Amino acid sequence: MIIEDRPREYLERRVRAGLLEQNTVDLLRQLDVGERLDREGLVHDGIYLRREGRTQHIEIAKLTGRHVTIYGQQEVVKDLIAARLQRGGELHFEVSDVSVHDVESERPRISYSAGGSEHELECDFIAGCDGFHGICRPSIPSNLRTEYEYTYPFGWLGILAEAAPATDELIYAWHEHGFALYTMRSSKISRLYLQVPVDEELERWSDERIWAELQVRLASEGWRVNEGPILEKGITPMRTFVCEPMRHGRLFLAGDAAHIVPPTGAKGLNLAVNDVRLLAAAFAAWYRNGSAAGLDRYSDTALRRVWRAQDFSNYMTQLLHDLGGGAYESRLQLARLEYLSLSEAAATSLAENYAGLPARDDF
Ligand code: DHB
Repeated sequence: MIIEDRPREYLERRVRAGLLEQNTVDLLRQLDVGERLDREGLVHDGIYLRREGRTQHIEIAKLTGRHVTIYGQQEVVKDLIAARLQRGGELHFEVSDVSVHDVESERPRISYSAGGSEHELECDFIAGCDGFHGICRPSIPSNLRTEYEYTYPFGWLGILAEAAPATDELIYAWHEHGFALYTMRSSKISRLYLQVPVDEELERWSDERIWAELQVRLASEGWRVNEGPILEKGITPMRTFVCEPMRHGRLFLAGDAAHIVPPTGAKGLNLAVNDVRLLAAAFAAWYRNGSAAGLDRYSDTALRRVWRAQDFSNYMTQLLHDLGGGAYESRLQLARLEYLSLSEAAATSLAENYAGLPARDDF
């Protein structure tokens, strides 16, 4: 049974990330929720890295045999909600006052309000998929968890624009003004991001200023970013966070409830999907043959990929953003970018992390 505090329309409209790893696409297909994804998703063979007007293509498909697919997170959410309801699963929106109890016992409970009355649910297990600000992680006694955290002194200003992307694949740009990213949602909708200071006010960024800065940071000779009406804009903080372990008794954390990565490299959604892949298999084994082995391994196994993604997301962030370290740091970044164009081994390392290392039972 799923309980959710937001309205369905909110979840289906909220614009988030949009890049699916090969593993995520494979899993959605396996679960028979990949039909619209296969029709509407944009399959990419690589990414562009740009700096000082020079562009390098990282040939992900050629180097790894794997692809990435552009398909908005809210589209995945729409497909999952529709499939859940169609298959007769219980899914309650707009619940409130949620709390979890007795998670160390064999009968944990969830209490919540919905439709004006109080409810209590007796459970075998609770999956805490309630995000970074959710109630599940704090319900683990603080002396039983370790939290690792770092907040970058910058964020991303993101826009969604009604403009045909002027690129076939994503462009990650290093620039002395700061990072910029050119991505998309369809052949008609572009999504673009600019690195901005952590405490930046959105009001300081008129549409004109946003486009002008994108043209500067993404510049390449004889080419321009396609401009159009801005449909949405917002600022995302850049935070990195891990909670260990991801389990306490019969409470299992998954996704942002347990970990956050900076968005560079788009691992957040993919990591959440991987947690749930492992957790679902562990639950299935428990109900099928009473085996607790998968449940007992869940936290350690999930955390292995979480730390791989932490390393990669922080590598991509530190490769491409103005970290405030001045000229020496910039030269190091440019040397690292040049190395990616000189060495197939270096490019392959980036490519396999970007596409996602293949899913395994133990990773
Ligand atoms: C997108 C977001 C990312 O953080 C990223 O690295 C790539 C793509 C996106 O919103 O499409």
